[in-house]
Amino acid sequence: MKEKISELLKEIEGFAAQTREQVEEFRISLLSRKGKISVLFDEFRTVAPDVKKEVGAKLNELKSKAQEKLNELKEKFESSDASASEADLTLPAEKFQPGSRHPISIVRKQIIDIFGRIGFTVAEGPEIEDDWHNFTALNTPAHHPARDMQDTFYVQKDPDLVLRTHTSSVQIRTMENEKPPIRKIFPGRVYRNEAISARAHCFFHQVEGLYIDEEVSFADMKQTLLYFVREMFGENSDIRLRPSYFPFTEPSAEMDVTCFICGGKGCPVCKGSGWVEIMGCGMVDPQVLENCKIDPKKYSGYAFGMGIERIAMLRYRINDLRLFSENDIRFLSQFRPAL
Ligand code: PHE
Repeated sequence: MKEKISELLKEIEGFAAQTREQVEEFRISLLSRKGKISVLFDEFRTVAPDVKKEVGAKLNELKSKAQEKLNELKEKFESSDASASEADLTLPAEKFQPGSRHPISIVRKQIIDIFGRIGFTVAEGPEIEDDWHNFTALNTPAHHPARDMQDTFYVQKDPDLVLRTHTSSVQIRTMENEKPPIRKIFPGRVYRNEAISARAHCFFHQVEGLYIDEEVSFADMKQTLLYFVREMFGENSDIRLRPSYFPFTEPSAEMDVTCFICGGKGCPVCKGSGWVEIMGCGMVDPQVLENCKIDPKKYSGYAFGMGIERIAMLRYRINDLRLFSENDIRFLSQFRPAL
């Protein structure tokens, strides 16, 4: 027995493994349930009582030596495995296709940035809106003919709830909750019950704006919008205001900008006129201020609203409104914003 133990001890000390498999073989041949060491432990029962103590100590020593050796070998192979799996830094990188931004997001961000530079901050509101904020507070009571201007989606069974037809509803919410001076823009999605075609859709995106303070004039509005247009479309752009009508502004205007395709000479995009229409605007009607508990004798202000799709279509020469919501990768991957 003693001999067997010292033989095995030598075997263990001299053992060297080249592969992970050999390490496993070593474990099985010595330490598994039927391995050589286990067999010796079985035999130990038959050892004479006077040498039991001595042999037992040797046997335990053998077992821990074997275990030590096994751990040593395992460690060696694990660390060499780790270095083998390290990446080959000389390999070329995998081809990576970066995403692109949606053109609506690009244009919306530009508009927000431009107005942000002159102190306008962003406010948002709910897309499901009540009649008061979408219509009545904006001087458009029930049966007012101007409601037909914006074909409305009503939320089923509740005639008081609509999908907002413009973000002017957020202007009302802001005026109800804040005291002048108010200088905000209102980006968001809006809904109108229109047949879907290349030129109309049942939803689109707007940015509206509002400035209320003491002694705000039409000239302030004009200058602000001129600044916006020159930042957005280039410094050679001009604006033109044409009289128009909105229930919530008086006077109201429609704003054109110099056609940025032909520079004003006349082309198919501007239908030969040299101008393209991009927004509605006007001085906030005193009645609207009163509806929001702002004193119209003390305060005045202007408001404006534009469609983001319209500007994106003009800027990128997109000829079909439906492309914005179809998620066609061939369309979307063409837009690489300068961030
Ligand atoms: N709310 C108008 C629309 O959706 C745009 C507008 C806003 C016009 C503010 C004038 C002043 O068409």
